Amino acid sequence: MKRKVTKAVFPVAGLGTRFLPATKSIPKEIMTLVDQPLIQYAIDEARDAGIEEFIFVTSRGKSALEDYFDAAPQLEETLQRKGKTKLLDALKRTDMQSGAIAYVRQREALGLGHAVWCARRLIGDEPFAVVLPDDVIAGEKPCLQQMAEAYEETGGCMVASMEVPQHMISSYGVLDVKEDHGSIVSVKGMVEKPDADKAPSNLAVIGRYILTPSVLDNLNKMKTGAGGEIQLTDAIADQIDTEEGVYGFRFRGQRFDCGSKSGYLQATVAFGLAREELSEEFSMFLREYLGMQNAAQ
Ligand code: G1P
Repeated sequence: MKRKVTKAVFPVAGLGTRFLPATKSIPKEIMTLVDQPLIQYAIDEARDAGIEEFIFVTSRGKSALEDYFDAAPQLEETLQRKGKTKLLDALKRTDMQSGAIAYVRQREALGLGHAVWCARRLIGDEPFAVVLPDDVIAGEKPCLQQMAEAYEETGGCMVASMEVPQHMISSYGVLDVKEDHGSIVSVKGMVEKPDADKAPSNLAVIGRYILTPSVLDNLNKMKTGAGGEIQLTDAIADQIDTEEGVYGFRFRGQRFDCGSKSGYLQATVAFGLAREELSEEFSMFLREYLGMQNAAQ
């Protein structure tokens, strides 16, 4: 069985309504943490995990994403002429070889499962990753790389997972655990956005997946689930009783929900503090600022 994963799907068709009016004219994936758009973090993580083909599922109004990954000869020439080598290096990370990146449009917002299904012809008959750029994960070893290594052992479908507080569980896909082996759990059930009192556990699905092509066959059935949408969770759950099975992977690292304002601000602070050139000044500011706020209370 082929276990090396070289293709990744990035579902980026969402409207980003939670960040209006900012997202009225820019895709939410272009919003920045420090100096890089969210999508760059997702791409870097995928590259580190050995991904060579990047498939974007987009929608109307997302062309800024295509431009971001295009060559920018004029800008590059100017920087070259001025000897700005550091900035040129930073730009290199946005470089995509011709043919390494493909765009497919999701014409209707019918759910995450439907978005992945839109990429079916580009995925073909091989295992693939799905990366949700809203979920930004900081860690010593990138999350998808950890998963790709674990997947070489397990095969099947693998979803990133972490424990979340009970009152948050209804915002996630949730795992019903069969056997808990610590970082890897085998799964006997999966449910999308259950009511908190009906959730099978507090182990939530986070936006990194390694999936077998059979999931695409399941998506072909166009079954609607939670919220009347075609859910990726349901198509993965359909694989549970097959020989290949479904696994949850408790990754090492800190996840930020950049689809929410609070998570996005937390990520901004964490990534700002992690930058060598910013950390001293920024942490001093935060300490003083919070000190002033506390004193005023
Ligand atoms: C999606 C998935 C959900 C998963 C979540 C992780 O939901 O449908 O199963 O737990 O991402 O971020 P969304 O956040 O798009 O509603």
